[in-house]
Order: sequence, then structure tokens, then C-alpha cells
Amino acid sequence: MGLDPKDGGFPMVQDLVESGIDEVPQRFVKPAEERSFSAARTEDDEVPVIHVAELDTAEGIAKLDSACRDWGFFQLIGHGIPPELLKQVRKTVRDFFRLPREQREAYAIRSDAPSLASQEGYGRFFVPSEETVLDWGDSVYHFLPPIRNWPRNPPEYRKVVEEYGQEIRPLAIKLLQCMAEALGQRASFFSEAFGPSPHYAIRLNYYPPCPQPELVIGLSPHSDLVGLTVLLQDEVEGLQVKKGGQWRSVRSIPDAFVVNVGDTVEILTNGAYKSVEHRAVVNKECSRISIATIYGPGRDRKLKPITSEEMPPLYKEISMAELLEAFLSGELNGKGHLQFVRIV
Ligand code: OGA
Ligand code: NI
Repeated sequence: MGLDPKDGGFPMVQDLVESGIDEVPQRFVKPAEERSFSAARTEDDEVPVIHVAELDTAEGIAKLDSACRDWGFFQLIGHGIPPELLKQVRKTVRDFFRLPREQREAYAIRSDAPSLASQEGYGRFFVPSEETVLDWGDSVYHFLPPIRNWPRNPPEYRKVVEEYGQEIRPLAIKLLQCMAEALGQRASFFSEAFGPSPHYAIRLNYYPPCPQPELVIGLSPHSDLVGLTVLLQDEVEGLQVKKGGQWRSVRSIPDAFVVNVGDTVEILTNGAYKSVEHRAVVNKECSRISIATIYGPGRDRKLKPITSEEMPPLYKEISMAELLEAFLSGELNGKGHLQFVRIV
């Protein structure tokens, strides 16, 4: 790792931290104007919390609908995924990132992957150019299922990550059915739009502690490209969501999922449901992990917004492959890539 010319051969963040630095290398220092990392936390205006049982009621569906319109985010509780599995997956992620460097590097993203979009493995999330300021975080990305090139260590890695992926998929499908219902569409609206081979992937994020957290960002502001992201975090907070031009911290609720709408759902719903910018900040004292499962349209799918006479299309028809291209060719800068799709 660290051999990609675009990242200047920088070691992974974890290895930097383990080498005992007390100053952040320049390549990670965000420009001053992007460096306001604090966020508001207003108890009466935070990411909505939805219990799965509420989704059986009209009020619950209405709550889901306004969460997707106003926030693009909600926290899901009462989801029934065994707490033991959530504990195991968090532990497995921590154990992987604790391995000696050579063992982690055995699963490094292969530089001969046919395209950026097909890259899997351990590495940096996003380095489009040599000028990119690096994020203070390392990650592993896998397509599911089954996972390929899985780490042999920790020994339970494959079993736990696959089992977790198997549990999340039906939950994502159920949420999408409820969203379709809320929109007045048939329940299968999103599964039809995503096609017979949906994109399903998992990203394990690791944010080491940082000696100067005020200079860096764990994960730069972005919107999620795909359809629906289901994120599991632990008790260390760091996720922030933008609402009304302001960053808001997302509270850590034990075993809850943070669910958010991705760009393809924004396009398919013609902007009714918002793919909202978010970022992750880091701290000085402790490392943070998060586990993102990502579900959405297959590569060959054409995305076509729902329209009506009163609501003409706000987005051009685009294929998933083209959208992916636009996303990967730019910097991770909020929702910039969506401007190619918007009809002005
Ligand atoms: C992501 C993401 C946030 C976090 O992986 O897309 O936004 O808190 N993660 O790690
Ligand atoms: Ni994200």
C-alpha cells in the first residue's frame, strides 16, 4: 500500500499513526476555508429516528417520507438484526485493522483492476489526482456476495462479513419497498429500477486518532452515489450531515443503523428524496469505525426519473455506469458530480 502514485506513496493513515507522529503530514491538511469541522447538535432537530414497527402504520410511512425528503437520512431502530452479529462485525473490523501492516497489505486494492469502479480491497477510499488532499481514514471495500479476496485473518472475517451482508440486504429491500409506498408507487418500484443484478457492496471504514484533528477530515463531504446506504457505527461519533446549509452531528444510538438516500434514488424520485452531503470527522483520543452497506442499481441500468404533468424531469436519463464514471472522475466534493445529470 502507499504505492499508488496518486497518493504520493503515503503510508496508510493507521501506519502513520503507529509510527508515532505528532504532526499531520501536509498531504492531509485541508485548506483553511474547508476547515470548519464543528457541527451543531440540536436535540429538537436531529436526524429522525424510526422504529421498524412504525413502518406498518400510515404515520410511520409518512415519517419515513418526510425523513427522506427533508434529511435524506434517518436512524433505524428495532430492526431485528441480532445484536450479537452487530457486535461480531464491529469486532472483526477492529481486529482486521489491528493486524500487522504486511497482513493488511496482502488484501490491498490491486493496481491492475480494470477500472476504478471494480476496485476491491484495502486502501484509500478516494484519490482521483496527485493534488487531492488525503482523508484521515483507511478502508476495505468488497462487492457482495460472496466476497472475493477476503482476508484470512481474522479467521472469522469472511463468515461474519458475509452473514452481515445477508442480513442487511432484505432490510434494505424492505426499506425501499416502504419508500416506494410512501411515494405512491408500486412496492417493487425500486427493485425493478435496480434490475436483476443490483449493486451490493460493503465498505469497512477505519479512522485512526489524529494528533491534530482540527486540520484533517476523516471522510470528505460527499453524497453516496448508489441507492441506499445502511451504516453501522459504534459509540465513537464522527458522522455529520448537512441540513439547511449547516452541519449536524449524528448521535450514536446503540445498534441503530444510519440509513441514507443515495444519488440514484434522488434521480429516480426526480428529486423528491434527497441524497444529502455528509462527512466524517476524527478526534484526538480514539479510533472510530463504521460499516457501510450499499445497495442500488446494477451497472447496466438506465435511471429514469418518475415524472408527471405537474413535475417534468429534473434529471437526464443516465446509466448507472455513466453516473459512476462522473463520480469517480472528480474530487470527492459534495454533490458536484450530479451537475452532469441535472437539467438546468
Ligand atoms: C460512507 C460514509 C460515514 C462514516 O462510507 O459513505 O459516509 O461515518 N461513511 O464513516
Ligand atoms: Ni457516505
